[in-house]
Amino acid sequence: MTKRTQVAIIGSGPAGLLLGQLLLKAGIDNVILERHTREHVLGRIRAGVLEQGTVGLIDEAGCGRRMHREGLIHHGIELSLRGQRHRIDFNDLVGKSVMVYGQTEVTRDLMDARAGIGAPTEYEALNVTPSGYDGTQPIVSYLKDGAAHELGCDFIAGCDGFHGVSRHSVPESALTVFERVYPFGWLGVLADVRPLSHELIYVNHARGFALCSMRSPTRSRYYIQCDASERPGHWPDDRFWEELRRRLDPEAGAQLATGPSVEESIAPLRSFVAGPMRFGRLFLAGDAAHIVPPTGAKGLNLAASDVHYLAEGLIAHYRSGSDAGLNAYSARALARVWKAERFSWWMTSLLHKFSDSGAFGERIQLAELEYLVGSRAAATALAENYVGLPF
Ligand code: PHB
Repeated sequence: MTKRTQVAIIGSGPAGLLLGQLLLKAGIDNVILERHTREHVLGRIRAGVLEQGTVGLIDEAGCGRRMHREGLIHHGIELSLRGQRHRIDFNDLVGKSVMVYGQTEVTRDLMDARAGIGAPTEYEALNVTPSGYDGTQPIVSYLKDGAAHELGCDFIAGCDGFHGVSRHSVPESALTVFERVYPFGWLGVLADVRPLSHELIYVNHARGFALCSMRSPTRSRYYIQCDASERPGHWPDDRFWEELRRRLDPEAGAQLATGPSVEESIAPLRSFVAGPMRFGRLFLAGDAAHIVPPTGAKGLNLAASDVHYLAEGLIAHYRSGSDAGLNAYSARALARVWKAERFSWWMTSLLHKFSDSGAFGERIQLAELEYLVGSRAAATALAENYVGLPF
């Protein structure tokens, strides 16, 4: 059966949903095709730090009410090195803050808003295949409940993540890929215990990196650097809490509240950029085009800035017939992506234990951290990037 829409969006993660909402607000029809169920998408636990620009876009999409009620405004972070904590005060350094609100909640709010206005999302759409985007009549074909469907459209937005079909549908020769895979991962635990501190603590320790984060005043999110080959099953709760405590300063260790984990997962760390982000009438956005290691909390925020540029380009196309924004999309998005890639790589290099860096590398890392916490100029550079560079 053939249907039509203006923009076919592949993927109902935050990038696809946010794009869909911004386009609907501008009167542009769209259909979202999602391989998984709604529950599966909402079961994925991801990071939780939103830049002010991302908060602004969620507001613009009309989906910010619960975020403003339940999100936690953070004016700084703490860095722990040599067993001592040092605060980086974003408010003082750059006059900005960030919002701690889980990506899962952002996704839920966007899904609810979309369902509320009856905009179409096809969950469990299988074999989704974008085609014809080199010409003027792109099509996305898919299977749903065993029946074959075709969705004709003006444009396709590939918002289907790193493993999605959108980027993979492009001939390899048309893509340039830049990649770094780190030799370690993050073991993450979510637990219904009060957060250790009212701000995030990023820990550099001889045993490896650790991060103390949160989702709410009663729900904490902790990570420790682990070997890339580790499995969650190797880490019963007691072992996790014990290892985390060993990486904290004694005061933090004494205050750590522990409890049964609600979720436990291991994420590999990767830096990845594929360009360009546009192929005729197919546009990639978010993780479909780039991945950052989570150390800078940039993944969702980059998806949001891509969506901002793409929505602007599409809205101008339909309102005034100008394709200048669409033509500039890939270059604009990639310019911001690379700056966030640099920051995420730098935060990762600064805070993790690298088994091959040797004693010299360890001293350089500590010297850089000490410079950072002792120099207003250096701390300002961190703050400026952490709260988010302008769109
Ligand atoms: C999280 O809360 O999951 C989180 C926070 C900051 C990061 C990464 C993850 O840099």
